[in-house]
Amino acid sequence: MAELDSLEFGKSDFVLLDEVNMEQFLANLKLRFQKGRIYTYIGEVVVSVNPYRPMEIYGTDVIASYRGRELYERPPHLYALADAAYKAMKRSAKDTCIVISGESGAGKTEASKYIMQYIAAITNPSQKQEVESIKDVLLKSNCVLEAFGNAKTNRNDNSSRFGKYMDINFNFNGEPTGGHINNYLLEKSRVVKQQAGERNFHTFYQLLSGGCEEMLEALGLHRDANGYRFTREGAICNTVSDDKLNHRAVLRAMRVIGFSDEEIQSIYNLLGTILHLGNVEFENDEDMAVIRDLDVMEQIACLIGSETDAVRRALLYRTVATGVGEVFNKGHSPEEARFGRDAFAKALYERLFCWIVRRINHVIEVKDYDPARHGKNTVIGVLDIYGFEIFDNNSFEQFCINYCNEKLQQLFIELILRQEQQEYQREGIEWQHIDYFNNQIIVDLVEQPHKGIIAILDEACLNVGSVTDTMFLDTMDARLIRHPHYTSRKLCATDKTMEFRRDFRIRHYAGDVTYCIEGFLDKNKDPLFQDFKRLMFNSSDPVLKEMWPEGHLSITEVTKRPQTAATLFRNSMVALVEKLASKEPYYVRCIKPNDAKCPLALDEVRCRHQVEYLGLLENVRVRRAGFAYRQPYARFLLRYKMTCEYTWPNHLMCSDREAVEAIVNQHGFQNDVAYGISKVFVRHPQMLYQLEQERLNLIPIIILFLQKVWRGTLARRRCRQMRAIYAIMACFKHHKVKAHFREVERRFANVRNMSDYGKSVPWPSPPAVLRSFQENTQYLFRRWWARQIIKNIPPSHMPEVRAKVAAMEVLQGERMEWGHSRTWERNYLASIKDGGPLAGQFTKVAKDLQSKDAYSAVLFSCLIHKVNRFNKSKERALLVTDALIYKMEPRKKFKVLKKVPLSVVTGVSVTSGRDQLVVVHTVQKDDMVICLQGAGADENEDHVGELLGVLADHFKRVKKPLQVAVRPSAIPLHMCGKQRTVSVEKRSGQRQSEFSKSRGGGFVLRVPDH
Ligand SMILES: Nc1ncnc2c1ncn2[C@@H]1O[C@H](COP(=O)(O)OP(=O)(O)OP(=O)(O)O)[C@@H](O)[C@H]1O
Ligand SMILES: [Mg+2]
Repeated sequence: MAELDSLEFGKSDFVLLDEVNMEQFLANLKLRFQKGRIYTYIGEVVVSVNPYRPMEIYGTDVIASYRGRELYERPPHLYALADAAYKAMKRSAKDTCIVISGESGAGKTEASKYIMQYIAAITNPSQKQEVESIKDVLLKSNCVLEAFGNAKTNRNDNSSRFGKYMDINFNFNGEPTGGHINNYLLEKSRVVKQQAGERNFHTFYQLLSGGCEEMLEALGLHRDANGYRFTREGAICNTVSDDKLNHRAVLRAMRVIGFSDEEIQSIYNLLGTILHLGNVEFENDEDMAVIRDLDVMEQIACLIGSETDAVRRALLYRTVATGVGEVFNKGHSPEEARFGRDAFAKALYERLFCWIVRRINHVIEVKDYDPARHGKNTVIGVLDIYGFEIFDNNSFEQFCINYCNEKLQQLFIELILRQEQQEYQREGIEWQHIDYFNNQIIVDLVEQPHKGIIAILDEACLNVGSVTDTMFLDTMDARLIRHPHYTSRKLCATDKTMEFRRDFRIRHYAGDVTYCIEGFLDKNKDPLFQDFKRLMFNSSDPVLKEMWPEGHLSITEVTKRPQTAATLFRNSMVALVEKLASKEPYYVRCIKPNDAKCPLALDEVRCRHQVEYLGLLENVRVRRAGFAYRQPYARFLLRYKMTCEYTWPNHLMCSDREAVEAIVNQHGFQNDVAYGISKVFVRHPQMLYQLEQERLNLIPIIILFLQKVWRGTLARRRCRQMRAIYAIMACFKHHKVKAHFREVERRFANVRNMSDYGKSVPWPSPPAVLRSFQENTQYLFRRWWARQIIKNIPPSHMPEVRAKVAAMEVLQGERMEWGHSRTWERNYLASIKDGGPLAGQFTKVAKDLQSKDAYSAVLFSCLIHKVNRFNKSKERALLVTDALIYKMEPRKKFKVLKKVPLSVVTGVSVTSGRDQLVVVHTVQKDDMVICLQGAGADENEDHVGELLGVLADHFKRVKKPLQVAVRPSAIPLHMCGKQRTVSVEKRSGQRQSEFSKSRGGGFVLRVPDH
């Protein structure tokens, strides 16, 4: 119940009336109407009164103020209802429909346009191009359909002469994705005849006053509605709308929708054809119709893409096939020709209208919709159908229209009154029954099989022979004599308001309507000579051809009798009601305040009548006694359980009902609800609003909670995966290690028996974890391998081996030539082979020196060159023992010239070349510079490695440091404490190595260049 307007404007919801009676209802309606409040609620039903003046309540700011609001938050408005229908559709993915009812001129079409406008305005905030164009077409389709389907009547200047039900499809995001229009029974008789003061369909006048000169000329028309029989009646009518402007708007709309220029041309060609047809006169020539004015035939032929003669023949003759297949042409009487012409004009217009609807549907139909991908497709249906009408002269069309309104009233009763009350009973809610008039009896009067008026009418049409409208009336009088809602002059002879043998009356829910029986049979049969169908099918214009597909049937083909107009209409109404009943309905009940189309005047009698027949008082009573909202306990819980600590996340109570009670009690709504067997009933929507609000506030927290839980789940899952990965990795590593060990074992299993003890066996590359282990293993293996090699070396060879190892270590690969491949004799001077005849002499001297200087062993001896005091190269002998180094004169019985204790030796320098230069560095900085001489036959034999080896080995054993330096060519040294350099110089022609003084104060060792 809207509370935003103060009481000065009356009660915004009729439910709030102090007493529910007609006086108060009308007083409130009138007060609000006079204060410019044209909308009032009955719960969720909007009662709308036609203001007959432009209102400032439809602007974008108003739309914005209703957007997303609950119904009762803002003053009553169509926008609030549209929003509620949209929200309900979005919230629960349910189809909804908005049923707009009321009599002709009450404002249904206007209401439907405002509703569509609102839905279009609030959807697609991101302005998606495809959605925008769908909305555009949906809105523009109104303009086109109104031009072709609306006309000025005595009740309404823009009366819908067809029924329209439009479905708007939405995707799961709530964006319009398309739609579909169902049209119902166009009042086509208007094309050829209008009541006094009424007009033909707008489009004819729009064309005649708005069409450009060239267009009119091409159509052969004059800008004068008075000049055409079909528009003459309406030519003098004043209308509020501007035909000229509207013509342009319709053209624009057709282009926006996607009509091609050719299609638009075909449409206007048809309108021209119809206007020309109206002017075709038939003259009597011996009871046969003839046409004198052949120009008009030519014009029509040109417009419908046919031959003049074909048009003439179709209008004057009927092709008849005999039972034996013979075909002949039967000429029409003038009467028949006129009938045929009018039927043709009506059919042309009806087909055109249906084709336009189909064409629009083709554009707006939802294409490529895949529910799996796009989510559920939901629908809002908007029904704007001709209102209940009572004219001075009511015919077949009014009968159908009023039957349609009976059906819709029945639906209203069904949904709002009956089902509601039944539900309270079913759910065991205490309830006082409210009486209402159920119009089912009138619906039955019209549509009941065998007994209803439609059945009787169809029966009459089925009869071959000359059954007349009057005979049909007689049958009705006979069969319906006892029906309380049917009467006629014959059944009620005193009632002079009905004509004898012409009128019958139905007591509709909305009032008594007297129908004139004339034309009922013809309109129901709706006959059209096949010749016209063939004429149109053979048109050269593909658009026209498409409208008349059955024209291809040959003359002799027997077609099934088509269903009658009334049956077709009844079926479409049944389907419509079914469609509406399957959706959640929202109602707009339109009231026409006066018949004079006058703003501010509220005719109480007229309004009282409408309030009565619309059942609005009953609606208020049911609503007041009832509940605004109901929901099964489980669903209610599901939606609101987060608002109560006892129900979130799950309740522990015995039933959902108790849980719902807990929610209701926690919020203090105890007095606002009733508990049914399976549903909770909520009296006022405010309670729901509060719950919704609370829910809305809690949703972000719940989402955060869900995110937290989900993130935790993801993290745990990731953790499990990682653990598994590590377990797999550990197993794999284990496997790799084992496999590696197995491989090593396999490769090295037999190395003991190999000739090289496995030296050539390649090691498998180890997994990373075993890299350092493998290095150690390889080291151990090398030691083992060395052990195997060394094991076989005799002890006498060991000193040599050690010396070689020591030499290798100290040289570190920096000297290429170091004599490792030969046997190291070491004590060359003592050897007969190398020392020659002096060997015995040397051995004796060495022995003496051993006892004298107490050294234990000779490490090395050989001949050398040295530099003497005068810087001259001299030959000497070198003896290296484990205590001293002796320099001796070989030619003087190995007289000791100098001895250097090994304890003062700090290092040895050699060159990287092949020369035999050796510098022995001492602590006293008086270094010994010598050049070793080859022993025996080979002068060039290398002894540097051997000397280095024995010295290094000795120093290693006594654990004393020995600096060994390998220089490229020049060696720095000290001589008597002074810094000197000895360099090596290769000289061709030099026979043996010899020292000489260099220019800088150092020495040069000249060596032979080979
Ligand atoms: N909300 C409104 N504001 C201003 N004028 C309105 C409004 N509703 C209706 N009217 C006026 O009333 C006229 C008739 O309204 P409308 O055509 O909607 O009636 P209807 O119920 O559709 O009638 P019918 O059953 O004959 O089609 C409109 O042409 C317009 O002039
Ligand atoms: Mg209308």
